[in-house]
Amino acid sequence: MTDLHKLIALLPKAELHLHIEGTLEPGLMFSLAARNGIELPYENEESLQAAYHFERLQDFLDIYYAGCSVLLQEQDFYDLTWAYLLKAKENNILHTEVMFDPQAHTTRGVPFSAVIGGIYRALTDGYEKLGISFRLIMSFLRHLSAEEGYKTLREAIPFQGWITAVGLDSSEKNFPPDLFADLFESAQEMGFLTVVHAGEEGPPEYIWAALDLLRASRIDHGNTAMEDSDLMDVLGIYEIPLTSCPLSNLKLKVISRMEDHPVKEMLERGIKVTVNSDDPAYFGGYLNENYFAVADALFLSREELVQLAKNSFEASFITDGEKKNFLKKVEEASGN
Ligand code: HPA
Ligand code: ZN
Repeated sequence: MTDLHKLIALLPKAELHLHIEGTLEPGLMFSLAARNGIELPYENEESLQAAYHFERLQDFLDIYYAGCSVLLQEQDFYDLTWAYLLKAKENNILHTEVMFDPQAHTTRGVPFSAVIGGIYRALTDGYEKLGISFRLIMSFLRHLSAEEGYKTLREAIPFQGWITAVGLDSSEKNFPPDLFADLFESAQEMGFLTVVHAGEEGPPEYIWAALDLLRASRIDHGNTAMEDSDLMDVLGIYEIPLTSCPLSNLKLKVISRMEDHPVKEMLERGIKVTVNSDDPAYFGGYLNENYFAVADALFLSREELVQLAKNSFEASFITDGEKKNFLKKVEEASGN
């Protein structure tokens, strides 16, 4: 391990952009399939993983939703989340803000309560047994209608206290944030914060719309902000965090080489950018691997890596007091 990799491993970190369904490893997918009597269209883990070649976001989403088919019972969602939390512990993640896609399950007849119940039970166990604090983000699928989004928002009412924010994910192109302005307004009236996937494949206009219409507290990805200097200024001035996902960007061909990843330039321009793993079971690495990839390709300095770790807590949805405690831990680990 290089000194910088050692520093990354030692740094306490928060993860802010993580789809729990995207942590479904092939081994668990096959064991849940067997437990639930589901036939997967792949003979074994190797042939499944051989299909993990993506030209664009949609190629990945097709496989991601197919993988979800093995998740049926509350215990399945618990096991999925618990497996991620063990990885989070290994990666020195002290706080995680987990997204889930209820519609990927309720559309298959799985009760909303089984989905959120299993995830939340594992997260509370993770807090008690592993010391990992958490927030939960309920994402709407943008390839479905706002009407269907409303149905999901209503299903969430009994569990409102468990959910901090709502998000927007799935196929970005041709599904601009504008379509969900009313839905997000209702969610905000209920007290939820909002985050929005924007500028992964969509143009900077989608990021503007996420801010202006959906009042996003953070932008998930935000790569194409780099094409619009006025937008970059706004993100800097208003300290709107971007949750960047380097290995995801490479796998989904948002960038063609890791050397082209914008995270360093974003840091240099004073943007509160963070590093995250998105769907680590599909993209080849958990959080530390994402930090390693950008550190190596972009020659990030110790100071820049410490800044990324600090940004991860500063951009999170915890209280100022909690932030202060975590930032102190980052300082200690960085030797300052
Ligand atoms: N982009 C959009 N939707 C998603 C992603 C992503 O990277 N991962 C899971 N759903
Ligand atoms: Zn994502």
